[in-house]
Amino acid sequence: MMDDRLITSSMIGGDEEAEHSLRPRFLKEYIGQQEVKEHMRIYIEAAKLRGEPLDHAVFYGPPGLGKTTLASIISNEMGSNLKITSGPALTHAGDLAAIVTNLSEGDILFIDEIHRLNSSVEEALYPAMEDFAIDIVMGKGPSAYSIRIDLPHFTLIGATTRLGLLTAPLRDRFGIKEQLSLYTPSDLAEIIVRSAGILGVRINEEGALEIASRSRGTPRIANRLLKRVRDFAQIKGSGSIDRLTAKAGLDMLAIDEKGLDATDRNILTAMIEKFASRPVGVDTIAAATGEDASTIEDVYEPYLMQLGFITRTPRGRIVLPAGYVHMGYIPPADEGQIKFSME
Ligand code: ADE
Repeated sequence: MMDDRLITSSMIGGDEEAEHSLRPRFLKEYIGQQEVKEHMRIYIEAAKLRGEPLDHAVFYGPPGLGKTTLASIISNEMGSNLKITSGPALTHAGDLAAIVTNLSEGDILFIDEIHRLNSSVEEALYPAMEDFAIDIVMGKGPSAYSIRIDLPHFTLIGATTRLGLLTAPLRDRFGIKEQLSLYTPSDLAEIIVRSAGILGVRINEEGALEIASRSRGTPRIANRLLKRVRDFAQIKGSGSIDRLTAKAGLDMLAIDEKGLDATDRNILTAMIEKFASRPVGVDTIAAATGEDASTIEDVYEPYLMQLGFITRTPRGRIVLPAGYVHMGYIPPADEGQIKFSME
């Protein structure tokens, strides 16, 4: 199969290239995301039986969960070509026109960070998705006119961190919408064992679980930590990874037993100390910690919520008792919580 990517392997270096080789190529190799896999298996099978391209699909969820990997798996399963680009890379409607007019029947166009398309590109995308046609404006000013060019039936796969970031008209044009969730430690351990096999690293189940439980539910992080622990095991240990080597290697990276890094801890400390545990908005947390509000929402908050350390209330985010305990604070008495909620 031809792999006609706009991002070529020469543009990817070091860890990213290695991460590339760790990616599963077919659905049967893809670990976790059980529901998404079951849905996609049915949609792919049905489209193939009908001899039609797959419907347009959008995958959403925190970064590093395998949205690009899924697009590449779908192209392998459908036996079609994959072109990869991103929202910020398409600055003019003409950039999109150049790509879609070069597609063949059944090709898959993957647009990462599709919520970052500017409005003129997004508007050009609507007829491309709906009618498989694109309107190209010729000339300028009052004498400008547009010509419509028919396109091959292709499949658009979009990726975004939150579905709510898409405009309603764009969202409505996707027939398939699938949410990717943070992985469980046991799924991540399975991914780590698979990756270790590809990298030729010896690891036991306990070592894999130790890395998994500190990987924030994210395969990209799990594979990165595996490589760092491999380095550690090679220099400081026997070369193979067991629980103790994994633990020592991860402690050196300042990742705590729950996988929290310095930023997670800053966020929790600010919420507890600066805001005296009152409900607080994400912009306020951003200002207090020097982090970007959308990074907090897309990257930090989902994991802190999965751990049960923070939660959202209609009036803002609050730290839950488990979050206080983890950071070494005594949770406020229930009385305080009741008082807040009645204010
Ligand atoms: N590598 C990265 N993500 C993976 C997944 N979901 N399954 C198997 N290997 C992976």
